[in-house]
Amino acid sequence: MKPRHFLELAEFETAALRDMLDQATAFKGGAANPPAAAGKTLALLFERPSTRTRVSFEVAMRQLGGHCIVLSDRDMQLGRGETVADTARVLSRYVDAIMLRTDRVRKLEELAEHATVPVINGLTEASHPCQLMADIMTFEEHRGPIGGQVIAWCGDGNNVARTWVQAAVRFGFTLRLACPDACTIPGYLLDWARREGGDVSVTSDPRQAVAGARCVVTDCWVSMADDPKRDCRPLASFQVNAALMALAAEDAVFMHCLPAHRGEEVSAEVLDGPRSLVFEEAGNRLWAQKAILAWALG
Ligand code: CP
Repeated sequence: MKPRHFLELAEFETAALRDMLDQATAFKGGAANPPAAAGKTLALLFERPSTRTRVSFEVAMRQLGGHCIVLSDRDMQLGRGETVADTARVLSRYVDAIMLRTDRVRKLEELAEHATVPVINGLTEASHPCQLMADIMTFEEHRGPIGGQVIAWCGDGNNVARTWVQAAVRFGFTLRLACPDACTIPGYLLDWARREGGDVSVTSDPRQAVAGARCVVTDCWVSMADDPKRDCRPLASFQVNAALMALAAEDAVFMHCLPAHRGEEVSAEVLDGPRSLVFEEAGNRLWAQKAILAWALG
């Protein structure tokens, strides 16, 4: 039987994602831990740094009665040229699930092709589905069902923005992205969203994207897969600040997956202000990932 990989939101039916979110909410409300993960081991492989993903997965697995082994590529033969396929075959003999954070999505795909245990996407240069599960959960806790709502993204068309596109299609909300032409959303993803019946549009005008939106989202200028010396000047006019938030719906919330850079992609006033849900999002990573683990190991 094929393992229950959690790789991309686009690969799931809406009902399956909704079941995971319901389970996440139940866990947060104190629901009993299912026996699925008890005594099991999750390998957490990091080729890039992490605070939230690492700690929330580790705590989630412990709460489920299992445990984790945390490895960086520097700790493993993977960092000295052992193939991803061989790593997958070996780890599948020791552990019950593998989470990978990498800046090469092909590695994640290769791991999933060759692993006989579930593989979870802990972020690639192309997507961050665990983050979006926590984000949808957070929006709905504060503003009700996300279906039919208008969400605005301002800034880099990066991995998180691209996962918001997948989420818009699967959860049925309108997504307006404002991105500089130099780092916009790839055409193939917009074509996919259109084919799937999604309501996703891209503009280079943040004011147009944010007008009337119920939620405004951004992310840092330099993502982990980017050249740290990239030219960020085109992103400066996409900053989410009080003037931009004033164009959104009166009860609009602000979201950011963190880590944030105050004064760059978002002003301190917005990030630390009353409309900001950023720490609620970070907190919900635990519950969303606990639900993903329960599904994958169930
Ligand atoms: N948002 C997020 O994935 O945070 P970390 O990089 O700290 O895991």
